[in-house]
Amino acid sequence: MLAGKRILLIVSGSVAAFKAPALVRLLRAEGAAVMAILTAGGARFVTRETLAALTAQPVHQDLWAAEESIGHIKLARWADAVAVVPASASMLARMAQGLATDLASTVLLATRAPVVVAPAMNPAMWEHPATRANVAKLLARGVRFAGPTSGPMAEPESGPGRMLEPEEILAAIQALSGPQPLAGRHILVTSGPTQEPIDPVRYISNRSSGKQGHAIAGALAALGARVTLVSGPVIQPDPPGVEVVKVETARQMLAACEAALPADAAICAAAVADWRVAQEAGQKLKKEPGAEAPTLAMALNPDILATLSTHAQRPALVVGFAAETEKVVAHAQAKLARKGCDWILANDVSADVFGGEENTIHLVTRQGVEDWPRLPKSEVAARLAARIAKAFS
Ligand code: C5P
Repeated sequence: MLAGKRILLIVSGSVAAFKAPALVRLLRAEGAAVMAILTAGGARFVTRETLAALTAQPVHQDLWAAEESIGHIKLARWADAVAVVPASASMLARMAQGLATDLASTVLLATRAPVVVAPAMNPAMWEHPATRANVAKLLARGVRFAGPTSGPMAEPESGPGRMLEPEEILAAIQALSGPQPLAGRHILVTSGPTQEPIDPVRYISNRSSGKQGHAIAGALAALGARVTLVSGPVIQPDPPGVEVVKVETARQMLAACEAALPADAAICAAAVADWRVAQEAGQKLKKEPGAEAPTLAMALNPDILATLSTHAQRPALVVGFAAETEKVVAHAQAKLARKGCDWILANDVSADVFGGEENTIHLVTRQGVEDWPRLPKSEVAARLAARIAKAFS
């Protein structure tokens, strides 16, 4: 699928650079030509000789090397796609600032080719507000993120910041080289459950896993959309190339969605709690001997889908889900009218859907109903993303 494509691989300074040569082999096996730029930091972890042997091309390191005096422009123009693997915290910071302090950062400023980065760093560095701001800036600029994921680090600790495996980075580069019909579109996705506190240690929630919403966010990003994923507490990893905003309550989810506007489309896949406890207790409710069980008074939560559907900054396409156990399509049609959204993806949750791997969808629009076969959630996501791309074409 990458036959004839020219991939410029920038290897920056992280111990994960040891995976870069394996990526070169995978890219070449797909038919791509690969040229490597090795930063000073990258050269601490992988040698020029290794990359030269595997790319069968000279490796570029020095902005000021005589033969490379206008090399940065030539390299920037040569690339069909640029992959920064690994992308260190410093590399992301230089990219976000638009600094041109070495050959790699200068080429990144000079290229018009799409750029994918595979970050690799310690969890504290990945979570630092400076890195968060740099990532948000780069995402808004259209840079695609492959990972990072959570897992063991080189140091004896674990957390977000671990680089994806070469096979996963290859898939991200292939997606970048594939059709990008949603490039330039901003899409808001909600996913997961909400947690509504009873007191500082207890909450009301539901069994939503976030699998479907996260898969949709990833599928939209793979088609080139800038995606803001507003997610309740889930154990799903952040989908590659997506800006994730983590919330707990329905009211926080609504605020995060409104803050993300304007958007071209909103996909409300979250299982938002309909009610919250009217008065969250400031202290843990105590079980006193002989006392009655407490009665919880409930209050209505905001309906995020309905709010977005009538918002002053209403996205052009608003899509909701309807989890039903009977009269699935009839209830979905009523919901479409009631909430004022454009499409409803109705699914029968009497079967093993919550937390499961598959979903049977009926796409309900004002034009009619489309019945999809039972599909893995990843396929449902890909189909929906393709339908959204068609709606915007
Ligand atoms: O009304 P019901 O919960 O069945 O509607 C489901 C749809 O509405 C889903 O798309 C869900 O994300 C959305 N929803 C919402 N805010 C709520 C309740 C549901 O956005 N408070």
